[in-house]
This record gives sequence, C-alpha cells and structure tokens, in this order.
Amino acid sequence: MSQSNSETARAGRIVAIYPGSFDPITNGHLDLIDRGARLVDRLIVAILQNRSKHPLFTVEERTEMLREVTAGFSNVEIDSFEGLLVDYAARHHANAILRGIRAISDYEHELQMALMNRRLRPETETIFLMASEDNSFISSRLVKEVISLNGNVSGLVPKTVEERLRQKLQLRKEG
Ligand code: PNS
Repeated sequence: MSQSNSETARAGRIVAIYPGSFDPITNGHLDLIDRGARLVDRLIVAILQNRSKHPLFTVEERTEMLREVTAGFSNVEIDSFEGLLVDYAARHHANAILRGIRAISDYEHELQMALMNRRLRPETETIFLMASEDNSFISSRLVKEVISLNGNVSGLVPKTVEERLRQKLQLRKEG
C-alpha cells in the first residue's frame, strides 16, 4: 500500500471518486450521488475529459450543471480529469471508486473496468450501487435522443438540465 493511501486508510476515511461522462447528469446519476455521499466521507464526482467522444456539453457546462444540482451535499465536490482514473484517484488519495449498475447489460463492462482498475491500483476498491428501480432505464444517451425528437424527459433529468438541453438543441438547430 502506498504511503498516501495507507494514511487515508488509517484515518478510516473513505474518499471515493465517482467518474463518468455526465453528458448530461441524469436523475439516475443524482440518485447515485445522493446514496454514495451517505456512505463515504468525501465524494469527488469526476468528469472524464474525453476528446474522442464528441460530447453535447463542454466539460465546463457539465461541471456547472453538476455543481448546481449537488449544491446541497456538503461532502460532494465536482472535478474533471484526463488520463487513467486510478492515477487521478492516487493524486486525490482516494481509496474507492463508485459506480452504478442499472441492468445486467452494464455488468460485463463494469466488471472489466473494476478488474483492470484493481490490477493497476489494488489500493482502490470499486464500490457498486444498484440503480433504484425508477432510474434503472435512464441513460444520458437516451435522454438526448428523446429530447432531440421532442419527447418528454421530465422526471429523467433535473429541471435545470432539461432547460439547458432544450437551449443547446435549439442553438444547434439555428446554427
Ligand atoms: O459514464 P461513463 O462514460 O460510462 O464513464 C466511463 C469512465 C469515465 C468511468 C471510464 O471511461 C474511465 O474510467 N476512463 C478513464 C480512463 C481509464 O482509466 N481507463 C481504464 C479504466 S478500465
């Protein structure tokens, strides 16, 4: 165990990273943040800066939205990262990675990532939380598809995110 991580562990604190694209944050993500924040001492929601993915929202916009909707959580911080997740975790003395599982279809990919991350940095344990029933079908990808086809996404994303989605899609149509 590295020096910094053993210090984290000795103090008995759980510092967890919740990584993802969050393009944009959904009520499923928010539920996971809510439940995760109760389990750990400090939760860092880390947005992946992935240049190859062509996101709808910039990292700055995603950061703003996440900050708005998590303002009420005293132990939650919003950040972004590039490169390997485990290196980011090490820099922040995190001893856990938080991920959600919605359906069995998520399991294989999540297992692969958790095992790879464990191999790269055994000190960081992945914690999985099952999505709540109401949120188990929500994904950022489907929300974007439904709203772009004028479908109703209320209850799937926070209100402020829904407004930003509409603005963004309107701008795209005009542009
Ligand atoms: O919300 P997503 O898009 O499913 O999140 C995927 C994420 C960000 C967790 C994953 O792509 C990631 O950790 N990327 C960082 C690069 C990395 O560490 N790759 C090896 C992990 S197995």
